[in-house]
Amino acid sequence: MQKFVLIILSIMCFFSCSKAQETVSEKNEVSKGKKMLIVYLSRTKNTKTVAEIIQKNIGGDLVELILENPYPENYKAIVEQVTNENETGFLPPLKTKIENIEKYDVVFIGFPTWGMKLPPPIKSFLKQYNLKGKTVIPFNTNAGYGIGSSFDTVEELSLESKILEGFTIKGGIERDGILFVMEGKKKIEVEKKVKEWLTKIGMSK
Ligand SMILES: Cc1cc2nc3c(=O)[nH]c(=O)nc-3n(C[C@H](O)[C@H](O)[C@H](O)COP(=O)(O)O)c2cc1C
Repeated sequence: MQKFVLIILSIMCFFSCSKAQETVSEKNEVSKGKKMLIVYLSRTKNTKTVAEIIQKNIGGDLVELILENPYPENYKAIVEQVTNENETGFLPPLKTKIENIEKYDVVFIGFPTWGMKLPPPIKSFLKQYNLKGKTVIPFNTNAGYGIGSSFDTVEELSLESKILEGFTIKGGIERDGILFVMEGKKKIEVEKKVKEWLTKIGMSK
Protein backbone atom coordinates (compact mmCIF):
# COMPACT_ATOMS: atom_id res chain seq x y z
CA MET A 1 0.00 0.00 0.00
CA GLN A 2 2.84 2.36 0.97
CA LYS A 3 4.59 1.58 -2.28
CA PHE A 4 1.40 2.34 -4.20
CA VAL A 5 0.99 5.75 -2.48
CA LEU A 6 4.63 6.57 -3.25
CA ILE A 7 4.19 5.73 -6.91
CA ILE A 8 1.03 7.88 -7.13
CA LEU A 9 2.87 10.78 -5.39
CA SER A 10 5.84 10.47 -7.76
CA ILE A 11 3.53 10.55 -10.78
CA MET A 12 1.74 13.62 -9.40
CA CYS A 13 5.05 15.37 -8.74
CA PHE A 14 6.31 14.53 -12.24
CA PHE A 15 3.32 16.23 -13.85
CA SER A 16 3.25 19.27 -11.57
CA CYS A 17 7.04 19.76 -11.84
CA SER A 18 7.04 19.59 -15.62
CA LYS A 19 4.08 22.00 -15.67
CA ALA A 20 6.03 24.44 -13.50
CA GLN A 21 8.99 24.17 -15.85
CA GLU A 22 6.74 24.77 -18.81
CA THR A 23 5.45 27.99 -17.23
CA VAL A 24 8.98 29.26 -16.63
CA SER A 25 10.10 28.49 -20.15
CA GLU A 26 6.93 30.07 -21.57
CA LYS A 27 7.71 33.21 -19.60
CA ASN A 28 11.25 33.22 -20.92
CA GLU A 29 9.86 32.84 -24.40
CA VAL A 30 7.89 36.07 -24.00
CA SER A 31 10.92 38.11 -22.94
CA LYS A 32 13.28 36.18 -25.18
CA GLY A 33 10.81 36.23 -28.03
CA LYS A 34 11.79 39.74 -29.05
CA LYS A 35 15.38 40.32 -30.04
CA MET A 36 16.46 43.77 -28.95
CA LEU A 37 19.24 45.93 -30.33
CA ILE A 38 20.25 49.16 -28.64
CA VAL A 39 22.46 51.31 -30.86
CA TYR A 40 23.69 54.69 -29.81
CA LEU A 41 25.94 57.60 -30.69
CA SER A 42 27.53 59.40 -27.77
CA ARG A 43 30.38 61.88 -27.58
CA THR A 44 30.42 62.69 -23.86
CA LYS A 45 28.72 59.49 -22.60
CA ASN A 46 25.35 60.91 -21.54
CA THR A 47 23.38 59.07 -24.23
CA LYS A 48 25.60 56.05 -23.59
CA THR A 49 24.41 56.01 -19.96
CA VAL A 50 20.76 56.05 -21.05
CA ALA A 51 21.52 53.19 -23.47
CA GLU A 52 23.07 51.17 -20.64
CA ILE A 53 20.06 51.82 -18.40
CA ILE A 54 17.74 50.58 -21.16
CA GLN A 55 19.85 47.43 -21.51
CA LYS A 56 19.84 46.88 -17.75
CA ASN A 57 16.04 46.95 -17.83
CA ILE A 58 15.25 44.91 -20.91
CA GLY A 59 18.42 43.11 -21.98
CA GLY A 60 19.41 43.03 -25.64
CA ASP A 61 22.62 43.82 -27.50
CA LEU A 62 24.28 47.19 -26.94
CA VAL A 63 26.24 48.67 -29.83
CA GLU A 64 28.05 52.01 -29.98
CA LEU A 65 28.24 53.71 -33.36
CA ILE A 66 31.86 54.63 -34.02
CA LEU A 67 32.93 56.64 -37.03
CA GLU A 68 35.63 55.82 -39.56
CA ASN A 69 36.88 59.38 -39.08
CA PRO A 70 36.21 60.68 -35.57
CA TYR A 71 34.85 64.20 -35.12
CA PRO A 72 37.20 66.90 -33.79
CA GLU A 73 37.55 67.19 -30.01
CA ASN A 74 37.05 70.94 -30.18
CA TYR A 75 33.40 72.00 -29.72
CA LYS A 76 33.41 74.85 -32.24
CA ALA A 77 35.09 72.64 -34.82
CA ILE A 78 32.52 69.84 -34.44
CA VAL A 79 29.61 72.29 -34.61
CA GLU A 80 31.04 73.67 -37.85
CA GLN A 81 31.61 70.21 -39.32
CA VAL A 82 28.11 68.99 -38.41
CA THR A 83 26.53 72.15 -39.89
CA ASN A 84 28.47 71.51 -43.06
CA GLU A 85 27.44 67.84 -43.20
CA ASN A 86 23.80 68.77 -42.70
CA GLU A 87 23.99 71.31 -45.53
CA THR A 88 25.65 68.96 -47.99
CA GLY A 89 23.84 65.77 -46.90
CA PHE A 90 27.18 64.06 -46.25
CA LEU A 91 26.80 60.71 -44.48
CA PRO A 92 29.87 59.98 -42.36
CA PRO A 93 30.96 56.35 -42.85
CA LEU A 94 30.58 54.09 -39.82
CA LYS A 95 33.39 51.93 -38.53
CA THR A 96 30.87 49.91 -36.50
CA LYS A 97 29.48 46.98 -38.43
CA ILE A 98 26.36 45.21 -37.17
CA GLU A 99 26.20 41.54 -38.07
CA ASN A 100 22.83 40.05 -38.96
CA ILE A 101 20.69 43.08 -38.23
CA GLU A 102 17.76 41.11 -39.67
CA LYS A 103 17.64 38.98 -36.51
CA TYR A 104 16.42 41.90 -34.38
CA ASP A 105 12.72 42.71 -33.85
CA VAL A 106 13.20 45.93 -31.92
CA VAL A 107 15.88 48.57 -32.51
CA PHE A 108 16.40 51.34 -29.95
CA ILE A 109 18.35 54.24 -31.47
CA GLY A 110 20.02 56.75 -29.14
CA PHE A 111 21.69 60.04 -29.98
CA PRO A 112 22.31 63.57 -28.68
CA THR A 113 20.62 66.55 -30.34
CA TRP A 114 23.13 68.26 -32.60
CA GLY A 115 22.24 71.67 -34.04
CA MET A 116 18.59 70.89 -33.18
CA LYS A 117 18.77 68.01 -35.66
CA LEU A 118 19.50 64.30 -35.91
CA PRO A 119 23.29 63.76 -35.89
CA PRO A 120 24.59 62.80 -39.37
CA PRO A 121 26.01 59.42 -38.16
CA ILE A 122 22.49 58.31 -37.22
CA LYS A 123 21.38 59.16 -40.76
CA SER A 124 24.29 57.00 -41.96
CA PHE A 125 23.04 54.15 -39.77
CA LEU A 126 19.42 54.45 -40.94
CA LYS A 127 20.45 54.60 -44.61
CA GLN A 128 22.90 51.71 -44.30
CA TYR A 129 20.69 49.23 -42.45
CA ASN A 130 17.26 48.05 -43.52
CA LEU A 131 14.88 48.23 -40.55
CA LYS A 132 11.79 47.34 -42.58
CA GLY A 133 9.13 45.63 -40.43
CA LYS A 134 11.01 46.25 -37.19
CA THR A 135 9.96 48.35 -34.22
CA VAL A 136 12.15 51.45 -33.95
CA ILE A 137 12.38 53.43 -30.71
CA PRO A 138 14.40 56.67 -30.51
CA PHE A 139 15.99 58.05 -27.34
CA ASN A 140 17.90 61.25 -26.83
CA THR A 141 19.86 63.54 -24.55
CA ASN A 142 20.35 67.26 -25.16
CA ALA A 143 21.50 70.46 -23.50
CA GLY A 144 17.96 71.46 -22.55
CA TYR A 145 16.73 72.67 -25.93
CA GLY A 146 14.94 69.43 -26.74
CA ILE A 147 14.91 66.99 -29.63
CA GLY A 148 14.49 69.58 -32.40
CA SER A 149 13.64 67.74 -35.63
CA SER A 150 15.61 64.61 -34.69
CA PHE A 151 12.70 62.23 -33.92
CA ASP A 152 10.84 63.41 -37.07
CA THR A 153 13.92 62.61 -39.15
CA VAL A 154 14.13 59.13 -37.61
CA GLU A 155 10.51 58.61 -38.72
CA GLU A 156 11.19 59.95 -42.21
CA LEU A 157 14.12 57.58 -42.61
CA SER A 158 12.26 54.54 -41.20
CA LEU A 159 9.03 54.69 -43.18
CA GLU A 160 8.59 50.93 -43.20
CA SER A 161 9.18 50.51 -39.47
CA LYS A 162 6.81 50.83 -36.57
CA ILE A 163 7.97 53.80 -34.49
CA LEU A 164 7.17 53.90 -30.79
CA GLU A 165 7.19 56.95 -28.51
CA GLY A 166 10.74 58.07 -27.85
CA PHE A 167 12.51 59.18 -24.69
CA THR A 168 14.37 62.43 -24.14
CA ILE A 169 16.12 63.96 -21.17
CA LYS A 170 18.49 66.83 -20.46
CA GLY A 171 22.13 65.77 -20.59
CA GLY A 172 25.31 67.83 -20.84
CA ILE A 173 25.84 71.37 -22.09
CA GLU A 174 29.10 71.00 -23.97
CA ARG A 175 28.95 74.62 -25.17
CA ASP A 176 29.27 75.71 -21.51
CA GLY A 177 31.87 73.08 -20.64
CA ILE A 178 29.35 70.78 -18.89
CA LEU A 179 30.09 67.36 -20.32
CA PHE A 180 29.05 64.19 -18.43
CA VAL A 181 26.17 64.64 -15.97
CA MET A 182 24.67 61.14 -15.62
CA GLU A 183 25.84 60.36 -12.10
CA GLY A 184 24.58 60.62 -8.51
CA LYS A 185 21.06 62.03 -8.13
CA LYS A 186 20.78 62.70 -11.85
CA LYS A 187 21.45 59.06 -12.69
CA ILE A 188 18.80 57.90 -10.21
CA GLU A 189 16.31 60.32 -11.80
CA VAL A 190 17.16 59.06 -15.29
CA GLU A 191 16.85 55.41 -14.18
CA LYS A 192 13.37 56.12 -12.82
CA LYS A 193 12.23 58.00 -15.93
CA VAL A 194 13.59 55.35 -18.30
CA LYS A 195 11.78 52.64 -16.36
CA GLU A 196 8.49 54.57 -16.50
CA TRP A 197 8.88 55.15 -20.23
CA LEU A 198 9.71 51.50 -20.95
CA THR A 199 6.59 50.45 -19.04
CA LYS A 200 4.47 53.01 -20.90
CA ILE A 201 5.56 51.77 -24.32
CA GLY A 202 5.19 48.12 -23.28
CA MET A 203 8.88 47.34 -23.35
CA SER A 204 9.54 46.51 -19.71
CA LYS A 205 10.30 42.95 -18.66
C1 LIG B 1 27.96 69.43 -32.16
C2 LIG B 1 26.99 69.55 -31.03
C3 LIG B 1 25.80 70.21 -31.23
C4 LIG B 1 24.86 70.30 -30.20
N1 LIG B 1 23.68 70.92 -30.46
C5 LIG B 1 22.73 70.93 -29.49
C6 LIG B 1 21.44 71.48 -29.75
O1 LIG B 1 21.14 71.95 -30.87
N2 LIG B 1 20.54 71.48 -28.76
C7 LIG B 1 20.80 70.97 -27.53
O2 LIG B 1 19.93 70.99 -26.67
N3 LIG B 1 22.01 70.41 -27.25
C8 LIG B 1 22.98 70.39 -28.20
N4 LIG B 1 24.19 69.83 -27.93
C9 LIG B 1 24.45 69.25 -26.60
C10 LIG B 1 24.24 67.76 -26.54
O3 LIG B 1 23.05 67.36 -27.16
C11 LIG B 1 24.22 67.26 -25.09
O4 LIG B 1 25.38 67.68 -24.44
C12 LIG B 1 24.08 65.77 -25.00
O5 LIG B 1 23.72 65.37 -23.70
C13 LIG B 1 25.39 65.08 -25.37
O6 LIG B 1 25.19 63.69 -25.41
P1 LIG B 1 26.43 62.69 -25.33
O7 LIG B 1 27.08 62.89 -24.00
O8 LIG B 1 25.81 61.36 -25.45
O9 LIG B 1 27.35 63.01 -26.46
C14 LIG B 1 25.15 69.75 -28.93
C15 LIG B 1 26.39 69.12 -28.73
C16 LIG B 1 27.29 69.02 -29.76
C17 LIG B 1 28.60 68.31 -29.53
